[in-house]
Amino acid sequence: MLVTIAEDGGDVVILDQTRLPRETAFVRLRSLADTAHAIRVMQVRGAPLIGATAAFGVALGLREGLTLERSIDTLAATRPTAVNLHWALERMRGVLEKSAQAVRQEVAWTEARAIAREDAAANAAIGRHGLAVLEPVAARKGRVEVMTHCNAGWLATVAHGTALAPIYAAHEAGLAVHVWVSETRPRNQGQLTAWELAQEGVPHTFIADNAAGLLMMQGKVDCVIVGADRIAANGDTANKVGTYLKALAAHAHGVPFYVAAPVSTIDFACSDGMHIPIEERSAAEFGALHTPVANPAFDVTPAALIAGIITEHGIVPADQLARVKP
Ligand code: MRU
Repeated sequence: MLVTIAEDGGDVVILDQTRLPRETAFVRLRSLADTAHAIRVMQVRGAPLIGATAAFGVALGLREGLTLERSIDTLAATRPTAVNLHWALERMRGVLEKSAQAVRQEVAWTEARAIAREDAAANAAIGRHGLAVLEPVAARKGRVEVMTHCNAGWLATVAHGTALAPIYAAHEAGLAVHVWVSETRPRNQGQLTAWELAQEGVPHTFIADNAAGLLMMQGKVDCVIVGADRIAANGDTANKVGTYLKALAAHAHGVPFYVAAPVSTIDFACSDGMHIPIEERSAAEFGALHTPVANPAFDVTPAALIAGIITEHGIVPADQLARVKP
């Protein structure tokens, strides 16, 4: 579990992803401010993990005696695109507003643990459903070549990952799976994916972001699987910047392009991709440049370029998400 309660009780423990892959260091979150900081600076990152961590942050805020409103507002302001953050906060609000003051804290911890547990279970199911995409290719060719972007593995979730869950399921099932891992400028989440795949013994090759098109043209990619930070009701999908270019290249070369995400990443209130807020991050992420910088952290892939959304309820055509609406 990438977010847990410390064994001595109380505090929340996370793996500090800003120190990977150089160092594996765990950090204790003792307060609402610690949690908001961890999300903002990306010590925890990845939409599902941000959501679960924020839920624990609400419990920490209540422990400090802060109001529910203040706890939710502080956490909601940390990162705008990943909808799991807002989904988890609204779920906490819904449960806590109905609870008596005397039991609120206990209810908050219970609900945060439930959110974390359910995320792990959803991702395991995504792995099982996504395996159906990889099995026929492996049966036909004896191996399967998957390209991914950013990190949508267990580091980005409570457990198992989203885009990497089918890959882990395939590896466990004994299929010869190899992963093309794109570096993901400017924050280099591809390094996290390479590190994670190495921990699991999954064969992989690290590439510059801009090498993706060539590899698809050369027939070296059987399918692309990426995660998502927010999927609009019409299937348009926001994911780490650079995803859209991979989808375009995949379309041009007849490579199926899949998105893997739990239903908590679908924003049914958002009609289409043009309405998804795109986070603009600091120019400092490019290093010390003395030039104007634009740093949109996400882009939007139109539903028409997506072969299917792999959810915990099965693989759904991107334009038929109503089928999995809770
Ligand atoms: O900015 P990050 O690292 O939090 O980016 C989010 C992501 O991890 C990816 O976009 C991912 O593909 C979706 S979250 C499983």
